[in-house]
Amino acid sequence: MSIKSTMLIDKNFTVSEVDPRLYGSFIEHLGRAVYGGIYEPGHPTADENGFRRDALDAIRALNVPIIRYPGGNFVSGYNWEDGVGPKSERKRLLELAWWTTETNEIGTNEFADWAKLVGAEVMMAVNLGTRGIDAARNLVEYCNHPSGSYWSDLRISHGYKEPHRFKTWCLGNEMDGPWQIGAKTAVEYGRLANETAKAMRWVDPSLELVACGSSSSGMSTFADWEATVLDLTYDQVDFLSLHTYYNNNSNDTPNFLARSLDMDQFIDSVASICDYVKAKKRSKKKLMLSLDEWNVWNSIGSSRAEERWQIAPPEFEDVYTLEDALAVGCFLITLLKHADRVKMACIAQLINVIAPITTENGGPLWLQTTYYPYLHASLYGRGTVLQPIVSSPKYDAKDFTDVPYLEAIAVHNEEQGQVTVFAVNRHLSEDMELKVDVRSFGELRLIEHLVLENDDLKAINTKANPNNVVPRAGGQSVIDGGQVSARLGKASWNVIRLQVAGSRG
Ligand code: AHR
Repeated sequence: MSIKSTMLIDKNFTVSEVDPRLYGSFIEHLGRAVYGGIYEPGHPTADENGFRRDALDAIRALNVPIIRYPGGNFVSGYNWEDGVGPKSERKRLLELAWWTTETNEIGTNEFADWAKLVGAEVMMAVNLGTRGIDAARNLVEYCNHPSGSYWSDLRISHGYKEPHRFKTWCLGNEMDGPWQIGAKTAVEYGRLANETAKAMRWVDPSLELVACGSSSSGMSTFADWEATVLDLTYDQVDFLSLHTYYNNNSNDTPNFLARSLDMDQFIDSVASICDYVKAKKRSKKKLMLSLDEWNVWNSIGSSRAEERWQIAPPEFEDVYTLEDALAVGCFLITLLKHADRVKMACIAQLINVIAPITTENGGPLWLQTTYYPYLHASLYGRGTVLQPIVSSPKYDAKDFTDVPYLEAIAVHNEEQGQVTVFAVNRHLSEDMELKVDVRSFGELRLIEHLVLENDDLKAINTKANPNNVVPRAGGQSVIDGGQVSARLGKASWNVIRLQVAGSRG
């Protein structure tokens, strides 16, 4: 038995160019993300600076364009000055966001070095929890001012002659959350963010600034928070942040796989609030969205480490299943559908902490199931998003009605002459016959049809069995007369890569 779906794409029906920063990620001083993840002096693969080469390779392969740093909740108690200068003089401090001991071995300069090695920009966050305007503008001066001032010369004295030129900056993190060090009301935060933004821009007018939206759409202050914060910051910021995590802790997979409809709604709602404030202010500026924390997070809500003040204890080391990978695939497709408005997004996080990559201290690295949809979207989802017309049978789930079994989008990379269809079959027991009308592209050739699937929805990759859930080429797709006929296995992630005849590639 199989179900049938259709999709029509036309090269002239476009959503938007994809901003490569849609495939960003996040590394926080939390758990073993930094210490044991990207940095482990003494590890057999460590380079001369203590960076794990196995992690560098796995992250380079993802072609991550931008990485948010240093938090997260961590940033709201962080004194950036503690993380620069000679390592031997750095303080060990009690870290209040996660109740650990921060050694400060890695700070701004080391992270900038590491980001360069993986070819990513840094999305810096400033502390608007315990600190404010002064620390933020000094940090911009330290990082971005060429020379001739106290903070820029201090950077030079620390061995960094060239400024880091960080362009994208977050004005705090989740400042609406009671768990946040120095949490604020929307008015308190909006005023502080606006004044901090002004000062940061006076140091470096080229900055792009992100104001904190709600820490989730489930917050009781959601929507009012956005409207108030934007009312107070609209002219000074370029982006509003959205954070959203999902889990399948109730073990209801059809409902879980429908969660991308919630993300879709969340994005629409926040875009509407931005446009409401735009209208109210008679502004010409259209605010863009930064979904700078999103992922599946099954261990969410579990408390911080039981034993306080450990150094880099394992925290939130979720082990992802095939169904988690399918959900991540649906989220990536949803982000692409909103590429006209969502210009930055960060899968949270990148390594060890709710992450697609896992390492063992002193041991190997392996890739989780969720690594693969992220890899495919980052590699093949660049170019112009096409507006598809999709027809698919639907189902009702606990929290959603009319959930299409087919979640799909297409991206046209004109430069490479390639069209890529990303598709999830949400049906858990039936394959799907998908017909894609691609006539507008003329002659196309199938490059490959990648598939991620497994008979067991709960299948995982482990140290002992790292290749249990990996994509295979060889999905069933044929092209004939301007139509792609593909078979999408039940509960599968599919990437159908097509080459336009006569183009290079
Ligand atoms: O990504 C983990 C945490 O989730 C971040 O520190 C925080 O911003 C969010 O609540």
